[in-house]
Amino acid sequence: MIIAPSILAADFANLQQATEMLNRSQADWIHVDIMDGVFVPNISFGLPVCTAIHRHAQKPLDVHLMIVKPENYVQAFKDAGAALISVHYEACPHLHRTLQQIKQAGCQSGIALNPHTPVHLLEDSLAEGHVDLVCLMSVNPGFGGQKFIERTYQKVRQLKALITKHQVKTLIEIDGGVSTQNAAKLKEAGADVLVAGSFVFGAKDPENVIQQLKNL
Ligand code: DX5
Ligand code: ZN
Repeated sequence: MIIAPSILAADFANLQQATEMLNRSQADWIHVDIMDGVFVPNISFGLPVCTAIHRHAQKPLDVHLMIVKPENYVQAFKDAGAALISVHYEACPHLHRTLQQIKQAGCQSGIALNPHTPVHLLEDSLAEGHVDLVCLMSVNPGFGGQKFIERTYQKVRQLKALITKHQVKTLIEIDGGVSTQNAAKLKEAGADVLVAGSFVFGAKDPENVIQQLKNL
């Protein structure tokens, strides 16, 4: 299981400290949530903050773009340190082209899906084989600390079946409301990557919580 703590839940006045804690921990990636106040009803932070996190990070940055027109910012986020860039299916009328742009920039490509979007809409993108990751939102994007949507398990199983059918290596990432309450069940359903924000940063001992998720 790949663990990607979301720095959205960290103390923004101490991002260097948060990044160094993740470096020491068993986290595999650092999940970076970019919100524009248009695609989602909240604004997080943008390129300079991503660059600043990258300056201290010893782990790959998994950048989740919750923005409209993400195609205009692919190169900029690559330059800001992104190893993987996920764009929302719902924000991309030319998803095929945007995924190619991400690969051409030298990043791993991801598609994020809102809770209401069925996974079968990804069949053509998956079959093409240029999707490295699908990020299934298990809350409505925009805020940390929300309740996990139970229907996600079913979506994980459906997505896993599509991935197996097309014999591709796409990873399944779950984002929102992840904790030790649902992590084992998500793993069993076929999840490969778990994002956790408030569960990690709200804990007394975040490194220990990361270890718990890692050793499911
Ligand atoms: C939600 C973000 C998530 C968020 C998860 O819009 O995409 O990555 O940080 O936070 P928790 O784990 O608190 O639900
Ligand atoms: Zn996210």
